[in-house]
Amino acid sequence: MKILIATEKPFASSAVACMCTEIEKGGHELVLLEKYTDKAQLLAAVAGVEALIIRSDKVDAEVFEAAKKLKIVVRAGAGYDNVDLEAATAHNVVVENTPGQNANAVAELVLGLLVYAVRNFYNGKSGTELQGKKLGLLAFGNVGRNVARIAKGFGMDVYAYDAYCPATIIEEAGVHAVAKQEELFEVCDIVSLHIPATPETKNSINYAMVDKMKKGGILINTARKEIINEQELLKLLADRDDLKFITDIKPDADADFAAFEGRYFTTPKKMGAQTAEANLNAGVAAARQINAFFAEGCTKYQVNK
Ligand code: 3PG
Repeated sequence: MKILIATEKPFASSAVACMCTEIEKGGHELVLLEKYTDKAQLLAAVAGVEALIIRSDKVDAEVFEAAKKLKIVVRAGAGYDNVDLEAATAHNVVVENTPGQNANAVAELVLGLLVYAVRNFYNGKSGTELQGKKLGLLAFGNVGRNVARIAKGFGMDVYAYDAYCPATIIEEAGVHAVAKQEELFEVCDIVSLHIPATPETKNSINYAMVDKMKKGGILINTARKEIINEQELLKLLADRDDLKFITDIKPDADADFAAFEGRYFTTPKKMGAQTAEANLNAGVAAARQINAFFAEGCTKYQVNK
């Protein structure tokens, strides 16, 4: 079988080398399309392959239409909002993700960005410490759990709200479970977002929600751009000069947010999962999942119906 790795934002080359070894071990052939700039390149590349490995690359109905031999797409990473699952199912294509494989990388970035934020973006002015501060995790999945583990090392008091995770699981991890999302914003000094982009969550981080935060609150987003209601957050930052917004996903209204100098920071390109280790973990997992799919029909990580 031909397995295409199609990445606008490539994996580390060391990860690609290991993925190639896995793919060859499975008796398959690697096809590589990196840093493509035009959808036409992706459409041409998928035409002759049975499997596809992607990152945040958009795989829509047009791609499935062009990929006549395609049997499986593995999103090397957690969020699969970039794949049209209905179109995949309609074309009899299995879609999988690789949950947890890049979670530590994202979690480390959260703490790194938080240190940067509370030390005033290293501008030389006196800042504050993370120790003793209340950190709220919106969702307690793989990333949230890793953030909790590292934040506890900083001496932070960690809270979490997750609509789909029982409070007992949260408490077992030494984290305070709160009953409502609103409560997380009311109680915590810092709120870190770890929810996927779904019809329910899109635009849900709005003026009313973030305005519940205490004076000096920090909102940090390493999840998805779409969960933020950008216009409402801009209005709130204008109304409250005590709040900070830190993000690993550049907002559409980046230029407007940039006006809040000293209270806003965005990475130039989403870099949460951009480590050699995370690329290796997620990329090799994707290659192995494809091998298992073709060898044994294994669909353990399937996310479409
Ligand atoms: C994920 O959903 O796994 C992360 O957002 C990483 O995305 P990336 O592979 O595009 O960096």
